[in-house]
Amino acid sequence: MDKTFRIAPSILSANFAKLGQEIEDVITSGTDIVHFDVMDNHYVPNLTIGPLVCEAIRDVSKKVGALIDVHLMVKPVDRIIPDFAKAGANFITFHPEGSEHIDRSLALVRDCGCKSGLVFNPATPLSYLDYVMDKVDMILLMSVNPGFGGQKFIPSTLDKLKEVRARIDAHYEKTGRQIWLEVDGGVNATNIAEIARAGADTFVAGSAVFGAGKDTDPNRYNTVVKSLRDALATV
Ligand code: DX5
Ligand code: ZN
Repeated sequence: MDKTFRIAPSILSANFAKLGQEIEDVITSGTDIVHFDVMDNHYVPNLTIGPLVCEAIRDVSKKVGALIDVHLMVKPVDRIIPDFAKAGANFITFHPEGSEHIDRSLALVRDCGCKSGLVFNPATPLSYLDYVMDKVDMILLMSVNPGFGGQKFIPSTLDKLKEVRARIDAHYEKTGRQIWLEVDGGVNATNIAEIARAGADTFVAGSAVFGAGKDTDPNRYNTVVKSLRDALATV
């Protein structure tokens, strides 16, 4: 089983006036995935970016070898899924509360050519996974309540991660198919090792990464990314 750790900077905390450059700089500093937070001021109390912005960053993401991981915090989800697929998303994840027909929405994501994933809020039960393990490529655990960057990591996520890791490992034993386990919210260099030990392999980090960028030095993210990587190396 592949034990690669991936870092996914959330561009929610990037400088939107220079988004392309931000993506280029943060990925070349040693990160892997562009985490793209979509909020609709309905499912969550905030409003962010849509398919137009996804399309705008697709070339630069491809150029630096990064996948685009679209995290839909919207309700309903089905109408907008094909738009993100067309706009260059590689992964599309959504919250079970955002779909009336979870199985159908997961299938729709794959039909559109993307990898699919379900997202769990801190209080959302894992039972939503019971009958769809074969339909997910990624499971995303929220370690904050969705809607804003810069919140504090909720410690009970660690136990929940262990439960999901067990489900994923059992699925791998049975089928040989890998499912990524991503964690999102309040991840930083101090807690990332503990989060990895609990079973996560993909780490969203917004404010911890972009908060380190104070000037126009293209290497401004090297130090923070190295501190995340060094912490992961201890796991
Ligand atoms: C929260 C978003 C997260 C957030 C992460 O609803 O899904 O991706 O931007 O930001 P930090 O790392 O600052 O918690
Ligand atoms: Zn997110």
